[in-house]
Amino acid sequence: MTIITVLTGTTRGLGAAMAEQLAAQGGHLVTLSRKKDPAIAALSASHGTTLTQLEVDLSASQAVKDAASSLIPLLKAHSHVRFIHNAGVVKPISQVQNLTDLNSINDAFHVNITSAIFLTALILGNTPQAIDRRVMLISSGAGRNASSGWAVYCATKAAMDRFAEAAQLDQAGLARIVSMAPGIIDTPMQETIRATSKEDLPSLERFIGFKEAKQLANPSSVAQRLLAVLESEAFGSKIIDDIRQHNA
Ligand SMILES: NC(=O)c1ccc[n+]([C@@H]2O[C@H](COP(=O)([O-])OP(=O)(O)OC[C@H]3O[C@@H](n4cnc5c(N)ncnc54)[C@H](OP(=O)(O)O)[C@@H]3O)[C@@H](O)[C@H]2O)c1
Repeated sequence: MTIITVLTGTTRGLGAAMAEQLAAQGGHLVTLSRKKDPAIAALSASHGTTLTQLEVDLSASQAVKDAASSLIPLLKAHSHVRFIHNAGVVKPISQVQNLTDLNSINDAFHVNITSAIFLTALILGNTPQAIDRRVMLISSGAGRNASSGWAVYCATKAAMDRFAEAAQLDQAGLARIVSMAPGIIDTPMQETIRATSKEDLPSLERFIGFKEAKQLANPSSVAQRLLAVLESEAFGSKIIDDIRQHNA
C-alpha cells in the first residue's frame, strides 16, 4: 500500500497540527499553503515521510491551477489517496448591509469552497488507479446553524456540506466524501473572531467566554481525532459529520 495525503492550510491552527502528525506517519504528504514550513520538512525527513510543499494562495484561481499542475503527477503512483481541505477564512465578519467588499466575499468563497471543489475534482479525476480514496472537507457548525455577522462564512460552509452530499452521489462506491465540523478550537481563527467588534458580531461575548472558560479544544487533539476518523472503516457512512459525535 502507498498512501498520499493532500492537505491545505498548514501554516497555523488545525492544519499545522494535522501536518505535524501526518509528517510523522510515513507515506507522501503534500501541503498546499501560502508558505513552506522548514519544521515540517525536518520532521518528515526524520520519519521517512516524503514531503512536497506547494506554495499557493488558495484565493487566486491561477495560483490554484498552477499548484494543480504540480500535484497531478504526484497522485498517479498511489493506491490510497486522501484529501483534507482545511484552509479556511472566517472574514468578512459583518452585518449583511455592510457586506460591500466584493473582493473579501470572493476570497472567502474561493478559499473555503471553490478551491475545495476544484481540488476534490482534480484529485478524484487523476487517481483512477487508487483502491481507496477519501475526502474530508473541514466544515463548521456555522454551515448548519446561522449566526448573525457570519453570513458569508455560514454560506461557504453550508455550500461545503451540500457539495459533499452531491459529490458523494456522483462517487458512490468509488470514493468516500465527508464534510466534517471540527468543533470550536483554540487557533488563530478564534483570535480573529474575538478581535471583531460587537456591532459586527453580536455573539462576540460568547466567543470570549469560550476562551475564558477554557472551552476551546486543543488543535493537536482535534487533529488526532480527525485523522483517526479519516482512517476508520466507518469513514463516509455519515456525509455531514461532526467530530464531537465521535469518541475521543
Ligand atoms: N477554530 C475553530 O474554532 C473552527 C471552528 C469550526 C471550523 N473551523 C474550520 O477549521 C479549519 C481550520 O481553522 P483554523 O481555526 O485552524 O483557522 P486558522 O487558524 O485561521 O488557519 C487557517 C489556515 O488556512 C490558511 N489559509 C487561509 N487563507 C488562505 C489562502 N488564501 N491560501 C492558502 N491558505 C490559506 C491559513 O494560511 P495563512 O497563514 O497563509 O493565512 C491557515 O493555514 C477552517 O476551515 C475553519 O473554517 C475552525
